[in-house]
Amino acid sequence: MSIKSVEILDEGLNVFWSNNSLTCYPWFWLKDHSENKNDLHPDTKQRQIDSFTKTLEYNVFKVWLDEDSKNVFIEWNDKTQSYLSFDLLETMAKPRLPQSNSIDSSNCWNTPSEIKDFPEMTYQEVMSESGLKKWLMNIKRVGFVLVTGAPATPEATKELMERMAYIRSSIFGGFSVWDNKLDSPDDTAFTSLAIEPHTDGTYVHDAPGLQTLHCIKRDSIGGENQLVDGLAIAEKMRHEFSDAFEILCNVNIPGRYIKPDTYLEARRPLFRINNKSEVIQVSFNNHDRAPFRLENDQMNKFYDAYKIFHNLANDSSRQFEFMLDPGKVLTFDNWRLLHARSSLSGYRQLCGGYHNHEDFESRLRILQ
Ligand SMILES: [Fe+2]
Repeated sequence: MSIKSVEILDEGLNVFWSNNSLTCYPWFWLKDHSENKNDLHPDTKQRQIDSFTKTLEYNVFKVWLDEDSKNVFIEWNDKTQSYLSFDLLETMAKPRLPQSNSIDSSNCWNTPSEIKDFPEMTYQEVMSESGLKKWLMNIKRVGFVLVTGAPATPEATKELMERMAYIRSSIFGGFSVWDNKLDSPDDTAFTSLAIEPHTDGTYVHDAPGLQTLHCIKRDSIGGENQLVDGLAIAEKMRHEFSDAFEILCNVNIPGRYIKPDTYLEARRPLFRINNKSEVIQVSFNNHDRAPFRLENDQMNKFYDAYKIFHNLANDSSRQFEFMLDPGKVLTFDNWRLLHARSSLSGYRQLCGGYHNHEDFESRLRILQ
């Protein structure tokens, strides 16, 4: 939007926009947000201006618009200059706090049949120039993506993952290769046992954002994977079980991971929401839930609410079930989808790892 004119007031600068709206920006804010290279480093975009240890002189001498550079220039009485771009002023035209990212619920799915445009693409496509954006958009839209035709090797899987961002390290290492025949497995994931729908990392403060799995060798029966849209359950509970939804937004549920040399524990509500009540993250792992106790009436209400979520997540009609085969790489949003696995017999070898959620968000911002 362009600026028609500006007006100097005692309390700040009035900006008259081309759509006939008006914004008044306080002088101190304008100086603090100056994009002059001495105030904001042009390369790092980090603030250089010292707004607080010395008294800022913000008696204004003159203000002018530069239509070529699309900046508003301010000259202060001490002869220093600030400037702010029309874009920044427009973005900040309404008072706003940075919003915590919420998950877009417009494509949440209650059953696999509700998944529009099944998120499947070939390895060749995802490794192409424009493929990464589509891969990311699929995850953003429905919470997961399946890549077919991948070479069934750890190297190719790692290369695919690193196309997005560096791989996150965790208690299980970084990029890993494992099978279901370990002598002393660290987690049920590394066995042949069935695992109920869950999200990973309820025992760490910052749960893994994306998880990638590739079964590179399979000589087994069973072991089907299931995915459930936790966001769809959240929205269903918000509308149909509002008291239970409220409880699951407020009770900090502890998760834990205990090994001889490790004792991880973290807590957060099953539904983490922002100040507009939009869901930012779903966290649920009944296997890893640590002991806690509320007042008896609150505890009973919590169990009732948790049971509703548990039973919806375990309702097979809500689950997308498939077999991870060599060549098929699954990546899903661990802050949104729950994953599960049926028990299996025989041998299989998998590889994969995690990405941080902020790196997924960063890549999307850059590519969009
Ligand atoms: Fe898991």
